[in-house]
Formats: sequence, C-alpha cells, structure tokens
Amino acid sequence: MTIRITGTGSALPEKIVTNFDLQELVETSDEWIQKRTGIAQRRVSTGETVSALAAEACKRALEMAGKTAAEVDLILVATCSPELLLPCCACQVQDLIGAADAVAFDLNAACSGFLFALNTANAYLQTGIYKNALIVGSEVLSKLVDWKDRGTCILFGDGAGAAFVEASEETCTYENGRRAGMECMVQGSDGAKGRVLSCAERALNSAFYAEDETISPYIQMDGQAVYKFATKQVPACIQQALDKAERTVEDVDWFILHQANVRIIESVAKHLKAEMAKFPMNIHKIGNMSSATIPVLLDECNRNGMIKRGDRIVLSGFGAGLTYGASVLVW
Ligand code: COA
Repeated sequence: MTIRITGTGSALPEKIVTNFDLQELVETSDEWIQKRTGIAQRRVSTGETVSALAAEACKRALEMAGKTAAEVDLILVATCSPELLLPCCACQVQDLIGAADAVAFDLNAACSGFLFALNTANAYLQTGIYKNALIVGSEVLSKLVDWKDRGTCILFGDGAGAAFVEASEETCTYENGRRAGMECMVQGSDGAKGRVLSCAERALNSAFYAEDETISPYIQMDGQAVYKFATKQVPACIQQALDKAERTVEDVDWFILHQANVRIIESVAKHLKAEMAKFPMNIHKIGNMSSATIPVLLDECNRNGMIKRGDRIVLSGFGAGLTYGASVLVW
C-alpha cells in the first residue's frame, strides 16, 4: 500500500499585522519580537472564519490533486479555534466544498493537530477503510488571544492549510530507490504538563450550577516552560522516529517543523546536528498559526518546487496538551 500526498493548499486572511502595529497595542518593539521569536508579521482575520479558510485551502489541495469534492472519502479538520462548537468544522467544510459522500470530523491536538490528523488518516488508509482523505489545519487564534498580553499576542496568527492524501494498492519506487509513503510516526502526549499552555471554554453555568469565578477566555501561557518542553521533546521524538524508520538525519532532505519560534527550530537543528538549510521557515511572515503552520509551510514548499517526489521529509509538531510528534515520509 502506498500513501501519497497528491495535493496541498492554503488560505490566509488578507490583513497583515506587523510588529510595528503591535507596538501601538502593547509595550513591545519590532526588535524584541524579531530577536526572541523571528516573527515580523502575521495575518489576522477581519471576518474570515476557520471553516471558510479551511474550505478554501481544501479546494486548492483538491485542484492540485486533480480531484473533485465528490470523490473525497474522509475530511479531518484539526483546529482548536472553531467558530462553532456544533456542528464540527469538518462538517461545515464538507458542506462548503460539496463533499457529500465524505465522513467528516474534527480533531484537537492544538499545534500538533495537523500531524495527528495525518497520522490518523494514514491509519484509516493503510487498513483500507478509506481510499483518500482531506487533512486540514485551520485556526483563527486572534479571537483566543488577549491583545493586551504582550507575552502571547505577538506570537500567533490566523490561517489554514490542507493536504489531500491518497492510498493505492501499488507500491511506488522512485529512481533514488526510495518508496513513496509514510515510513514511521511517533506521537506523544503529556497531559500532566497541560497547564503551561491553555485556553478555557465557557464557564459552567446551567440551571443547576454556576461557577462564580470569572474564567479568562484567552490563551494563558508559561512561555519559558513551553520553550523548554519544545527544545527537549522535539529533537528527541524526531530522533526516535528516525531510529524506528532505520534512517539517519543525513537521510532526510527536509524537516518541516511547527513554526512556533525560530530559536526553537534552530535549537532542534543543533540538537540533531542537522544543517539549518534543511529547515524551511515562513514564521517571519505569518507567525504561529497552531495546527495550520505545518500544512501552510508544506504547501509553500510544494508549490515553489522545493520539495520533489522522492524527497524524504520529517514533519514535526508540538504544542498545547502537551502534545508532540514526528512523522517520516517519502514525498
Ligand atoms: N516585548 C517586550 N518585552 C517582552 C515581551 C514583548 N512582547 N514579552 C515579554 N517581555 C519581557 C518580559 O516581561 C521579561 O521582562 P523582565 O526581564 O523585565 O521581567 C523579558 O521580556 C524576558 O521575558 P521572557 O519570558 O523570559 O522571554 P523569553 O526569552 O522566554 O521569550 C517567548 C518569551 C514567549 C518569546 C518565549 O518564551 C517562547 O517563544 N516560548 C515558547 C512559546 C511558544 O512557542 N508557544 C506556542 C507553542 S506551540
């Protein structure tokens, strides 16, 4: 069985918010933000919804794959910022793109969401339950961010990315001897440390009980704790995935990492003793879009021709949960 990503797509809100714009809102500076995070600007929704961005990204991915929405078997949307609690975003996307025969549901693993969704789809496809899947990461984090909190509002952005994944019975071997498909995946969760990055839903308020404490509806983060977690856990799980696949860092062409902070990515590269040139980044222009960062970067690298068939890619995500994971695949 071969599993291949045959189409990618992305969609971003039009509005660009620069670090200079943020200087008007909180006590910060372009210099501080760029130095500590690598971010210069991000996209912010002025009405674009999680489902609309996701649907646009899906349409582009399907167009690249040469498929119609009617052919889609499974839609998995990874999001932690849907505009509706019910129905789920994936069902909204199903309706928006007209994928009437698909099964659709959401998955929330925060910034690891797209990776976990891809691995979930891979399991469905490997077992023959479905033949293809649209995997999406879509977020409008701007509504979860406290725009008075300089520790978090500088980091996040809005956007969506999608990938169309297809299974085929035949194996596909490239000229370089590599076989297309997923070689290995490692996933992990550490719920005991979940408090370092959280965002509350509505407080309990029913006919029988009401919470009297006012719960902040915004993202709460211990930045340093998240930083330590990421710089320790990400290289470890990438190494674990490579070991499991019996590959080395040198066998990998591209490391597509969750775009949270340039310094985290540089630290991961250093730990792995991998060249920085193998770590494409777009965080400077779009910030951290949680589950959307990996598919948006993947789409960018696919469309600009950087990623070629036969390349070996490591995808790695990490974030709230805490969750983390790495997958090794041949494009
Ligand atoms: N502008 C200017 N100063 C700021 C600031 C901002 N936006 N945010 C914090 N500071 C200040 C702090 O108040 C502190 O000042 P003090 O020394 O007078 O107390 C100083 O800068 C250092 O703060 P600190 O929190 O130690 O900075 P840092 O180097 O850890 O950088 C983050 C902060 C958030 C950029 C960094 O911790 C980080 O990226 N963590 C990971 C977060 C992440 O990726 N989350 C998503 C995971 S998916």
